[in-house]
Amino acid sequence: MKKITLVSILLIFFSLSNLRAEDISTKVEALLAKMTLEEKIGQITLHSSYGDITGPEAGGNVLEKIRTGRCGNILNATKVKDIRRLQQIAVEETRLGIPLMFGYDVIHGFKTIFPIPLGMASSWDMKAIENAARIAAKEAAASGINWTFAPMVDISRDPRWGRIAESPGEDTYLSCEIAKASVRGFQGNNLSNSLTIAACVKHFAAYGAAQAGRDYNTVDISERVLRDVYLPPFKAAVEAGVASLMTSFNEVDGIPASGNSFLLKNILRDEWGFKGMVVTDYTSIKEMIKHGVVANLGDAAALALNAGVDMDMMSTAYVGHVKLLLKNGRISEEKINNAVRNVLTMKFKLGLFDNPYLYCNEQRDKELINSKEHLQSAYDMAVKSMVLLKNKNQLLPLPHGKRIAVIGTLANSQKDLLGTWHAQGDWDSIETVLKSIIRNNGNSHVEYAKGCGVNDADKSGFAEAVAIANKSDIVVMVLGETESMSGEASSRSNINMPGVQTELLQLIKKTGKPIVMVLMNGRPLALEKEVVMSDAILEAWHPGTEGGKAIGDMLFGKLNPSGKLTVTFPRNLGQVPIHYNIKNTGRPIDPENPNDSFVSKYIDCPNDPLYPFGYGLSYTDFNYSKVILTKNEIKSGESLKASVTISNTGNFDGEEIVQLYIRDLIGSVTRPLKELKGFKKIFLKKGENRKVVFTVIEDDLIFLRRDMTWGTEPGKFEIFIGPNSRDVGKANFTLK
Ligand code: NOJ
Repeated sequence: MKKITLVSILLIFFSLSNLRAEDISTKVEALLAKMTLEEKIGQITLHSSYGDITGPEAGGNVLEKIRTGRCGNILNATKVKDIRRLQQIAVEETRLGIPLMFGYDVIHGFKTIFPIPLGMASSWDMKAIENAARIAAKEAAASGINWTFAPMVDISRDPRWGRIAESPGEDTYLSCEIAKASVRGFQGNNLSNSLTIAACVKHFAAYGAAQAGRDYNTVDISERVLRDVYLPPFKAAVEAGVASLMTSFNEVDGIPASGNSFLLKNILRDEWGFKGMVVTDYTSIKEMIKHGVVANLGDAAALALNAGVDMDMMSTAYVGHVKLLLKNGRISEEKINNAVRNVLTMKFKLGLFDNPYLYCNEQRDKELINSKEHLQSAYDMAVKSMVLLKNKNQLLPLPHGKRIAVIGTLANSQKDLLGTWHAQGDWDSIETVLKSIIRNNGNSHVEYAKGCGVNDADKSGFAEAVAIANKSDIVVMVLGETESMSGEASSRSNINMPGVQTELLQLIKKTGKPIVMVLMNGRPLALEKEVVMSDAILEAWHPGTEGGKAIGDMLFGKLNPSGKLTVTFPRNLGQVPIHYNIKNTGRPIDPENPNDSFVSKYIDCPNDPLYPFGYGLSYTDFNYSKVILTKNEIKSGESLKASVTISNTGNFDGEEIVQLYIRDLIGSVTRPLKELKGFKKIFLKKGENRKVVFTVIEDDLIFLRRDMTWGTEPGKFEIFIGPNSRDVGKANFTLK
């Protein structure tokens, strides 16, 4: 009975959404039939308002552009009053009154800022990630924004690349989960709900593989790696119903992504059946001239439109050239109509034709933004994102009442807590790490010295820092990068601790006081020296509006860290690019004979990283039992269960992220040594233990075979379960 009811509800739901889709399509066609060519071109143009500038081309007289129908979409307008005004011009002063769509980079929050995406990924908590996106959407939507340029799902294996801060990390499986959770969070299940906004998965494709980690640089990868590693998170977002997709700046196989029909037509539309709207990144149509594949902006517009780009962001290529291209037969009317259809469909789905001001709600804007509930969620997310990297002699959590010396510019910084792309986040009133430590330990027991800046050579504050360290029982040093040292256009050619922070640490180490290093940074850093000098290390990333507060509470044990790295921390830059899911090579190191020559290794550094993917400690200890399988053999279509029992053997209650990896031992093409295929986050009270069971199905064994089809191959597999990608237990099975 229950089943019948559920099935009927689902049927009604699907037929209603089909009806709605048909309805929208009829309306789009009716509107399209009324539009002049100029009006159509306006609809496929995205222009910046007088808000933030997020690329080299800015402003222009946007009001005039809207009024004359040369601009149908706006980016970077963020105030409800401004958005209402612009919308009014579009609706009341243009011939057809087509409403504008308003896009903005709502990456990790709008006003209430969550940790940077790399930090949120470290939570491995899909519900929390979905919730963060939902809150970001609510706040942005109340200000009139109805479209975010997120989620960014670029896999990155190179910490030099500044945008690794915005990425979910290095793993494809985890990034797929994050892509789905983010789309669900931003969009909900109804785009015309005034509390949700359209998502835009970006940057399609392989932007994270920029050579030498330099932003905007050339990408050169095989189709196999592209499909196996970089594309699945985009596909996951498409399957989750993402409304739009952004092309990347880079080339793929010699063709810039914004003119790449292999990506935009063959893969995105034909293989994956994407029905949404494709927008370029900022001026990337125009940039195809500098890439050297077209001679002028007209040719660039033709290449982009013919490849399947619907909307031009900031290149003015469509507005300036589409008319002539059509006249000269270089593009077809159908191509233009298709692009317009995709844009109008999105506007209908967003409910803008029913109410162009749906998202402009001053009242809601005031009530929702930075609300108690939102701040609490940002706090919880900051807590979940922190990764404990070291805790010698259980230095953490700190006891109350000891004399604490707090050292480092970042301890007293508000803005740096927010990180890159902090949208409309205010930092004036947020609690710094220093204030949070004082709140936890009392004013009279805390002394602060800046010591040095983050990225300069000034050592004049060293003496003061050493002096307060000498008077203290414990030193907390907050070190790392400023918020502007990662993110777009912020690649670094070395990933050491910047400035003279390490020198300061060396001096403080000489005082003999126990040192807690709190890291605030947007990328993995090469910390070999710093790790040796610190007794405890808490990776806090750029943790957002409530991050300072959460760090202090974490240090004093109100909370217990549970985050795990989603990117490998190398020992030094020479190991980069680095990731856990490497291949064996024909000459792997024999662990029994690590000094063998003529094997794949460095002569001056081990192969293994400083901290592996998936790594993170807790104030408590977790013990893993052996891995048990229910079967050692499965046939195609069958599944097996893999389990371990985990015991909390330490002195605190805590959360643990249990990870499942699989290796396919022999394939028609070489396979990685380990690939993440599942994870579970569990909470165990101290003394408690729990059996964690993973079901392994044939889908978990699928890969891109030699003939470029997806599927499994019979043979032997290894299953690993553990607290990170290195320290795992192992069992074997065969797929018959
Ligand atoms: C350029 C960035 O690459 C992209 O991520 C962003 O969405 C646009 N600028 C718009 O700000």
